Amino acid sequence: MTVEIEIRNLFKKYPNGTEALKGVSLDIGRGQFFTLLGPNGAGKSTLVKVMTTLISKDSGSFSISGMNPESNPAKIQHFIGVASQENEIDPTEKVENLLVFQGRLFGLSKAEATKRANELIELFQLSSERNKKASALSGGNKRRLHCALALVHRPQILFLDEPTVGMDPLARANFWDIITMLNRSQGVTVFLTTQYLDEADKHASEMALIVGGEIHFAGSIASFKKMVNPDGDLSLDDSYLKYIKSLNNNSISNNNEE
Ligand SMILES: Nc1ncnc2c1ncn2[C@@H]1O[C@H](COP(=O)(O)OP(=O)(O)OP(=O)(O)O)[C@@H](O)[C@H]1O
Ligand SMILES: [Mg+2]
Repeated sequence: MTVEIEIRNLFKKYPNGTEALKGVSLDIGRGQFFTLLGPNGAGKSTLVKVMTTLISKDSGSFSISGMNPESNPAKIQHFIGVASQENEIDPTEKVENLLVFQGRLFGLSKAEATKRANELIELFQLSSERNKKASALSGGNKRRLHCALALVHRPQILFLDEPTVGMDPLARANFWDIITMLNRSQGVTVFLTTQYLDEADKHASEMALIVGGEIHFAGSIASFKKMVNPDGDLSLDDSYLKYIKSLNNNSISNNNEE
């Protein structure tokens, strides 16, 4: 396995004192479909934000495609696409323009950027929304736009932080068709966080479980199921529930009490 994303002993404490990451280490292989699972407040988005250089770590190290993202953030942006839980987009701008601007930002000519915007509008079934301002989109269509924006520059690594929240079933199926196609036929590495464990079960092969900023498990989804239930055949959803319920819940409820 060629390691695409290497994370070593990562710590992150927010200014208010919340320790969101407490020594996270992970290896994610090139071309893997990886999913990071964990309860609300476990540290998933924090890890995504650190790795995509939206926020800085306190200590530890990480590399993407052998590069240190913090020492070369501009270069790394060409390799990664990010659909985050709180993507910042200009609400007053139209869907089509946002996609074109994104392409221009990544060095495409006006004509190339327009072509790419049209492709993505088609792919994400946003034709009827193309002239609407981002602020006028429904929640699910906004998620589609975020995902389309993440793909404009054809990244080799995709960070998807709860990408399908609010999408209708058809949009969701369409979205997974796009992502699995990119993963299987173009070898795009996928780093997904989701609370929809059926989606993770269906599409990902590798996983990690984070609870209270600490990695509890890292390995294949099949081996997680086996660890939780050696004799049976539980879904990922049931295996996850069984594991989380078996934990002493103090650390989780502490995180939620603030
Ligand atoms: N900007 C911030 N300032 C202070 N604390 C924060 C900040 N962002 C997140 N946290 C805290 O850090 C911890 C991890 O949050 P994070 O958003 O990474 O969790 P998550 O696993 O993505 O949760 P969810 O499933 O709800 O998206 C939580 O305790 C959260 O309250
Ligand atoms: Mg999150």
